[in-house]
Amino acid sequence: MNIDLCAIIDLPKISDPRGNLTFIESNRHIPFEIRRVYYLYDVPGGAERGGHAHKTLHQFLIAMSGSFDVVLDDGRNKKRVHLNRSYYGLYICPMIWRELDNFSSGSVCMVLSSNFYNESDYYRSYEEYLAALEMSP
Ligand code: TYD
Repeated sequence: MNIDLCAIIDLPKISDPRGNLTFIESNRHIPFEIRRVYYLYDVPGGAERGGHAHKTLHQFLIAMSGSFDVVLDDGRNKKRVHLNRSYYGLYICPMIWRELDNFSSGSVCMVLSSNFYNESDYYRSYEEYLAALEMSP
């Protein structure tokens, strides 16, 4: 997999003086079916999250409040993406190493995932991840 397959996706936005509204539908606005939603919040200043890759999981990350950075790494190239709006997000395909940092205070990172939580879907060691990449065609 290549980090160029990871992309910012703009979401529908219904602008309204009473407050804006955004929605996300499986396989329409993001390229997978949503099976799980989780969110990171109360992240202390300077904290880093992520630090792993998924074997098969597709994910979509949105800064629901505040901002943070995602560093994508496919074993060859790295890219830093800043998320700071709730009407777009970052799609991350399987087999991409990711790290999250630079969380602003009060930020909330919502993650939509293509499957239920399964620890055996993770590469938690960067060495193990690189070794798996060399084995993949
Ligand atoms: P992890 O995926 O490493 O978090 P992050 O990538 O945001 O740093 O998960 C942290 C802990 O939470 C780990 O012990 C597994 C547990 N966890 C669940 O039990 N269910 C979940 O849906 C997720 C995402 C994590």
